[in-house]
Amino acid sequence: MASHGEPMTTIWPEGFPRVPDQAWTRSDVKELAVGYDNVEEHGWYDNLDPTVEDIKRVLEPGDIVLDYSGGTGILIGRLLEAIPEMPFGVINVDASKKFLRLSLEKFEKNERVAFRWIRYLKEQERVQRVQEVFEEPMLERGVEALASTNAIHLYYGLEETLDSWRDIIQDDGHVFVQSGNIGLPNDRMPEDSWIIDQTVTAIDEAAQTIARNEDRWSPYTDVLDDEDRMTAYETLREKYFLPIRPLSYYTDALKGAGFHIEDVRHRTVEAKVEEWYEFLSVYHEGVLGWVGGSERIEDEPPTDAAVEDRLALMRAAMEQVFEREDAFEAVWTYITCRPA
Ligand SMILES: C[S@@+](CC[C@H](N)C(=O)[O-])C[C@H]1O[C@@H](n2cnc3c(N)ncnc32)[C@H](O)[C@@H]1O
Repeated sequence: MASHGEPMTTIWPEGFPRVPDQAWTRSDVKELAVGYDNVEEHGWYDNLDPTVEDIKRVLEPGDIVLDYSGGTGILIGRLLEAIPEMPFGVINVDASKKFLRLSLEKFEKNERVAFRWIRYLKEQERVQRVQEVFEEPMLERGVEALASTNAIHLYYGLEETLDSWRDIIQDDGHVFVQSGNIGLPNDRMPEDSWIIDQTVTAIDEAAQTIARNEDRWSPYTDVLDDEDRMTAYETLREKYFLPIRPLSYYTDALKGAGFHIEDVRHRTVEAKVEEWYEFLSVYHEGVLGWVGGSERIEDEPPTDAAVEDRLALMRAAMEQVFEREDAFEAVWTYITCRPA
């Protein structure tokens, strides 16, 4: 760990520019990223609170946190706010240059924040390792802490990703992983709570029932009896909302990568139905693509009117699923580990 009271300039090792000289840093900020960043205002994003507290607890002046898949930088904003005085650095490493670009927009002037884009290498079907985008001085130094929030359930190359974490974290470092999409055995699920993405399947089921029973939706129901197309829509949904994997899948993978699991905690987070609707409506094609069709399946895009109907049906289905309550409880899992 670094000594106390170092000036900011010594945080980043020489030869590690905070902002790399790459085309994405000069591109325009995209709507998609701004759309996601709205969740910052949502109550369910309190899911970050325990991670902020965990990092705050271990952080010392001069330390560097790697925010792996930091996205639009919501955790970074909260960390900077929660720890205003201490000099520390945080590097946002993300696979989406759109999200990273917005994060740069928000924090470019803040000396405490650095950015690295890890590209998807199509021909190798993998995302780059952090080791491929960090300069040698940072690789040699390593980082004191690593956080991954709301993202681990999205990693397709989980083993490779965790190996790269083990290689960059210092031997006495801390890793904080959390997600609302880690499957728990029924006896560990608090009563009346949801794994948040499982609400999407429930909304789809409710929407299908409503559509079959109310005339208003008859223009959209033929597809419901077409098994092949409905399977294609299910596959499309799973691209947006990946199937839930059990907790042991993640803890085993972390152990396999050379980590010792220190702690696993669960916490329920209240999600306002209206806010969850706002979030899901950005991904309406994945939730209820069969209403009005998806270009990827039908070769032509839905009309604007069909998308409007899709959103209206989604809202009706959500009312039913959440029994007209204005909020529901979702379970987040927090895994703390350290190099074994
Ligand atoms: C739901 S967002 C969460 C962002 C941020 N951590 C937060 O809590 O707001 C998921 C993020 O994971 C990133 N991501 C997905 N797969 C990834 C991978 N294989 N490696 C690194 N980042 C990935 C996405 O680009 C996106 O920024």
